[in-house]
Amino acid sequence: MTRFTVNNQPVEYRMDPETPLLWALRDASNLTGTKYGCGTGDCGACTVDVDGRAVRSCTISIAACEGRFVTTIESLARDRSHPVQQAFVAESVPQCGYCTPGMVMAAAVLIRRTPDPSEDDIRKAITNLCRCGTYPRIVRAVQRAAR
Ligand code: FES
Repeated sequence: MTRFTVNNQPVEYRMDPETPLLWALRDASNLTGTKYGCGTGDCGACTVDVDGRAVRSCTISIAACEGRFVTTIESLARDRSHPVQQAFVAESVPQCGYCTPGMVMAAAVLIRRTPDPSEDDIRKAITNLCRCGTYPRIVRAVQRAAR
């Protein structure tokens, strides 16, 4: 059994400890906001926050999460939308929207760690892929969220 915290709730997963976090979240915890894109750590659709870092959940096993704190898109907002979510709406970022949860999680981690990121900081930190090519709007949204 593997134990850690997801969205401020203790969880126990009775599954192969090598199961990728992505599948534990989606299949066992029904947290389907975390998306599957490539399964190889390249696209970032599955990005979650693990102990304050943006982590591609398809690349980390649940065993590696033992005792850690995982936050998914479902609990990013508190009493109202997170500033990154508000900025994504204000800048009309989502097109198909599939990459949005991972983008938002990566952006939220970035502005927590770098409160006033430059465009270069944003482009280096958020390497998630967007097949719709909304990158300019993503940069503007992250800058707006950081204001
Ligand atoms: Fe994890 Fe693409 S699904 S990086």
